[in-house]
Amino acid sequence: MTESARVEVNYDDSIPNNVSLSEDRRLLKALEEWHPGYIDWWKEMGPEGWNDKEVYLRTAVGVDPKGWAVFDHVKMPEYRWGILLAPQVEGRTIPFGKHKGEPVWQEVPNEYRSMLRRLIVIQGDTEPASVEQQRHLGATAPSLYDMRNVFQINVEEGRHLWAMVYLLCKYFGKDGREEAKMMLQRRSGDEDSPRILGAFNEETPDWLSFFMFTYFTDRDGKMQLESLAQSGFDPLSRTCRFMLTEEAHHMFVGESGVQRVIQRTCDAMNEAGISNSHDIEAVRKLGVVDLPTIQKKLNFHMSVTLDLFGTELSTNGAAAFEAGLKGRFMEEKIDDDHQLYDEKYPVLQVENGQLVEKEMDAIAAINGRLLDDYITDAKGGIKRWNKVIQKCGIDFELTAPHKAFNRMIGVFSEISVTPEGEVVTAAEFEAKLDEYLPNQSDLEYINSLMKPCYERGKYAGWLSEPKVGINNQPGDFEYVRLA
Ligand SMILES: [Fe+2]
Ligand SMILES: [Fe+2]
Repeated sequence: MTESARVEVNYDDSIPNNVSLSEDRRLLKALEEWHPGYIDWWKEMGPEGWNDKEVYLRTAVGVDPKGWAVFDHVKMPEYRWGILLAPQVEGRTIPFGKHKGEPVWQEVPNEYRSMLRRLIVIQGDTEPASVEQQRHLGATAPSLYDMRNVFQINVEEGRHLWAMVYLLCKYFGKDGREEAKMMLQRRSGDEDSPRILGAFNEETPDWLSFFMFTYFTDRDGKMQLESLAQSGFDPLSRTCRFMLTEEAHHMFVGESGVQRVIQRTCDAMNEAGISNSHDIEAVRKLGVVDLPTIQKKLNFHMSVTLDLFGTELSTNGAAAFEAGLKGRFMEEKIDDDHQLYDEKYPVLQVENGQLVEKEMDAIAAINGRLLDDYITDAKGGIKRWNKVIQKCGIDFELTAPHKAFNRMIGVFSEISVTPEGEVVTAAEFEAKLDEYLPNQSDLEYINSLMKPCYERGKYAGWLSEPKVGINNQPGDFEYVRLA
C-alpha cells in the first residue's frame, strides 16, 4: 500500500474516516450518539455467540484500490467500522437525466430531498438485515475458513450501514437522524417491524442458503450500488463506489461456496460410481447435496432476488433517473443520449395471460433494464458452476429460472410460469411445485448436513476445500481463534 493511501484514513478519531469528521462537530456528535445503539444492535442481532472470539478480518484502511485493507485477528464488537468514500473526481458532471452535464451536487438539492432520502434508507436497511438473517450460521460452520467468511461479510454489511447512516446524518438533519435510529429498530422477519424489502425478511437457515444468498442477493446489492454510484449527488456516488470494492468479496464467497458444494457432490458421485444425478436417494446416502436440489435452491434464491428490483415499469425509477439520482448499470458505456426522451426498451409484459415483449419508453423501464443486466451478470457464475459438473463428466446442467418464474412483485406476479418460461395454470404450477422449489424434505436433508467442523484445516464432508486461503494463508490457518 502506498503511504498516502494509509494516512488518509484517520484512525485517531473514535470513528475511522476519510471525510474530515473531526472538523464537523455536529455530525461527529450525531454519529457518536448513534454508535452505542449500533453496538447494542450488533450484540443483540449480530453473529450469535461469537463476539468474544478473535476472527481474522480485513479492515479498510484506505481507498487506494491496490492496498485498501489490512488483515488481523479482532473481536467483532471491536471492529473499526469506518466511513470511507472513494476519492472525489475533479470536475465530475451529472452523467444522466435532465441535469446531465451540470456539475454534480455536493449538497442535497431541495427538490429531490425526500426522493434521495428514500433511496438511501432502502439501501441502508438491507445492510443490517443480512447480518440478522445470517446470525445463526456460526453454530454450523463447515470450517473455520467459512466461518471467518460469514463474519467478514457481516462486519462489512455493518460498515455499509455506517456508510448510509453517515449520509443520513450529514445531509438530512433531524429526519436523517430519525431514519438512522430506525435502521437499528427494524428486524429481519419481524411481524410488526420487518425490514423494508421482502428477500431480506427470509431466513438464511443453512450454509447452502448462505452461499446462494451471497451469490444472488448480494449481487442485487452490487447492481443497486452500481446505479447509485452514477448519482449526481456526489457523496452518495463516492460512498457507493467504495462499498463496491467490499461487495466483490461477498459475491466471491457465494460463487466459490456453491462451486465447492457442487465439486464435492460430483467427486462423491464419481467415487461411488453413480452417474445418474437424479438418483437423489443414492446421492444423499453419500452425505452430499444432490444436483437437482441445488437447482431448486438456485430457483428459489434467484427468483426471490428478482423481486428486489421492483416493478419492471416504474414511475419512481423514472423519476430517480430523470432527477439524476440513480442511473443505470454501466451508464457511461451505454450508447444513447442518457436522458431517454425518445428511447425505447423491450420489456416482457403479460397480455391475455401470455408473455409478450413490448417496446416501452426506456425511462419507464429503468428497473426492467437493471433486472435484465442483473440476470446476465448472474448467469456468468451458473456457467462456471456447469463447467465443474462437465469436468467431472456428469450429465447435468444448472439453469437460471425464467424471469417470470415464482414472482411476487411486478407483472409476472399475476400468472404462473414454470422455470422454463411456460405459462401454466395455477393448479398445474402447484402440482409441480416440488420439482421447482425445495420442499420440506429437501430442506430437512440440507439441514441434516449442517454439523459444525471447527478443526483447523478440516472441512465438512458436503463441500470441498477452497483453492486458496484468505490473504494467501496456509490450509491449517486459525481463521477463528476458538480458545
Ligand atoms: Fe452491503
Ligand atoms: Fe454484501
